[in-house]
Amino acid sequence: MHRYVILICVKKNASSGYGQSEIISIMEQRIYLDNSATTRMDATVLESMLPYFREDFGNASSVHIFGQEARGAVENARRSVADLLGADTKEIVFTSGGTESDNAALWGVFRSGYRPGNHIITTKIEHPAILETCSSLERAGAEISYVPVDSTGRVDPSAVEDAIRESTVLITVMHANNETGIIQPIEEITALAGRHNILMHTDAVQTAGKIPLAMHNLGVDLLSMSAHKIHGPKGVGVLYIRKGTKFTPFMTGGSHERKRRAGTENVPSIVGLGTAARLALQRLPEMNSRVAGLLDRFQSKILDVIPGVRINGHAPRLPNITNLSFERLEGEAAVIALDLEGLAVSTGSACASGSLDPSHVLTAMGLRPDVVQSSLRFSLCYHNTEEEIDRAVQILESVLRRLRKLSKKNWG
Ligand SMILES: Cc1ncc(COP(=O)(O)O)c(C=O)c1O
Repeated sequence: MHRYVILICVKKNASSGYGQSEIISIMEQRIYLDNSATTRMDATVLESMLPYFREDFGNASSVHIFGQEARGAVENARRSVADLLGADTKEIVFTSGGTESDNAALWGVFRSGYRPGNHIITTKIEHPAILETCSSLERAGAEISYVPVDSTGRVDPSAVEDAIRESTVLITVMHANNETGIIQPIEEITALAGRHNILMHTDAVQTAGKIPLAMHNLGVDLLSMSAHKIHGPKGVGVLYIRKGTKFTPFMTGGSHERKRRAGTENVPSIVGLGTAARLALQRLPEMNSRVAGLLDRFQSKILDVIPGVRINGHAPRLPNITNLSFERLEGEAAVIALDLEGLAVSTGSACASGSLDPSHVLTAMGLRPDVVQSSLRFSLCYHNTEEEIDRAVQILESVLRRLRKLSKKNWG
């Protein structure tokens, strides 16, 4: 991405006159409002990881002192994650990230045979880590029901209940959507899953560390989270598995993680995840006050200065994400133009960008194709400042004015 921006700037340099100093200044002042795609790793997180790449390199399964030190670090991290989730340490399984956790949860329940059946209920707005896993499961004999959402972006628990069959073995509904930030009524859905003795999974990749999660309130049997969304390293995550849940491991080849996920533990990354979880727990109040305040400021300034803006989805919403559609705008073109001016945002999830398919999430909410195509996602974090927010609005306003002038499209 770095190189991509420089290349475009250099190209632009030839044609429209950015000087070298302007290029450097854009690079230095870039504003990152794409924290749902990934976050900047905290310096404290990196510091905590470094010894485990160097002197403390042991295998956490080894019996000697090197192994014991690594084991101690992994268990400390497990404690921090358990504290963040309000869970027991024995319920925490380290994985390679949110995608693996989602895969492991779905396959792990489907193959466990904890009750007869092959039917899974999910929603139309899940992350591809769920939707594509459901497609694989269908090829393996599962039947999947995809529950719709309403125009506010919420799943109706009664629609989930209506989808339940004798053969239902799992309900999986994401905790908050990665494109809109809309929070789903998980407690209600979990309660009805419990009444029918069906296991419940939630993808909490966007919510863990953003809003308080108390597993006993949420009540789910399985939950996925990822470190890189909370200023931790990429390629490490967690699958929470409630005590007593029948689960067949997705990864086999050793007795690691209490036989629930085989493979030598990625000690430095797990340590980084532990530190990130500890920091996220400490910063929860700030997320729900300062970051939420920044998002409000951003959104209301945009609504004040830019005409033809629509907010996609309704509260309850995460404190750091908003999704807006702008009349007479091509979202993809806007992302590139904004990037040139030093503002990093996205049109939807990082996994979907690069494909020209319109957002399946906004489409499921019933938005017209032109409204879907003109949407941008803005996602904030602790590192953002009021000054950045105000500058982001200015950049957005001037880029949009320019793009709208150029737009020959007839928007209905
Ligand atoms: C809701 C959701 N689930 C799953 C994932 C995948 O997580 P990871 O990148 O750790 O594999 C993401 C990442 O964007 C996400 O937003």
